[in-house]
Amino acid sequence: MQAFLNTAIEAARKAGDIAQINFARINQSDIKTKAYNEFVTFVDEEAEKAIIDIIHGRYPDHTILGEEQGLKGDESDYLWIIDPIDGTTNYIHSFPVYCVSIALKIKGRLEVAVIYDPSRQELFTAIRGMGALLDGRKIRVSKQRTLQGALLGTGFPYRDQLDWLEVYLDIFIDFTRIVGAIRRPGSAALDLAYVASGRYDGFWEFGLKPWDVAAGVLLIQEAGGLVKSMIPGEDAVESGSLLCGNPHLFDPMSEIVSKYDDRLKKLF
Ligand code: IPD
Ligand code: CA
Ligand code: CA
Repeated sequence: MQAFLNTAIEAARKAGDIAQINFARINQSDIKTKAYNEFVTFVDEEAEKAIIDIIHGRYPDHTILGEEQGLKGDESDYLWIIDPIDGTTNYIHSFPVYCVSIALKIKGRLEVAVIYDPSRQELFTAIRGMGALLDGRKIRVSKQRTLQGALLGTGFPYRDQLDWLEVYLDIFIDFTRIVGAIRRPGSAALDLAYVASGRYDGFWEFGLKPWDVAAGVLLIQEAGGLVKSMIPGEDAVESGSLLCGNPHLFDPMSEIVSKYDDRLKKLF
């Protein structure tokens, strides 16, 4: 597994360097619209290509799912799930909160995770069963015991998820009435790394994609946290609507969200 992790680290650092060199240099003409409120630049594309070249250079038979290029390579037991820049809206506004996210699933199970933050040069890594690390040092989820005083992260529904806005806001009101504070920095993968490292006590967001969450889910699990889908009966990574937190807050957070189960099931 260590060899896979080393490959993921090398690829994430390479993509991060490409992003950092171009940071705050993006012009209006560099921005393409993929869909309503969904943007891409040559940096997302170059960074993804660099990651794919490194992985396929070493493991030509492995399958890669990237946000920009979709599926590359034949189907195999090895699936790399990559987001070359998570936080593109921030990136094109020179708002320095974004990251590179790379996960490896083997036979359908998450085994390796890397999230790299080029702005702070922080590297979050995990191998299943071996814990989660930040810059080589063990990290654990927070010890916060109550929702009162807790710091939660979240993401707002937008783009094609506007149907989720009303139920999201009801849940947001419930949390806002109880917790200490809520943040929405704009990079879901980094948010999950922050749950793993205890900076947040919990996080919830609807409508994410596998490349936004795959690495972060393994990081949180390896750091002693809990993750689930907010859609009853669905998988957290596949449904993309996930709630996570330290073991003390996971149940109280789940209880609040479960009040809306019927509405959530209808929207899914
Ligand atoms: C986005 C970020 C954002 C989340 C969006 C994602 P992108 O990823 O993770 O925090 O709210 O849903 O799509 O498009 O910048 O890679
Ligand atoms: Ca993303
Ligand atoms: Ca992206």
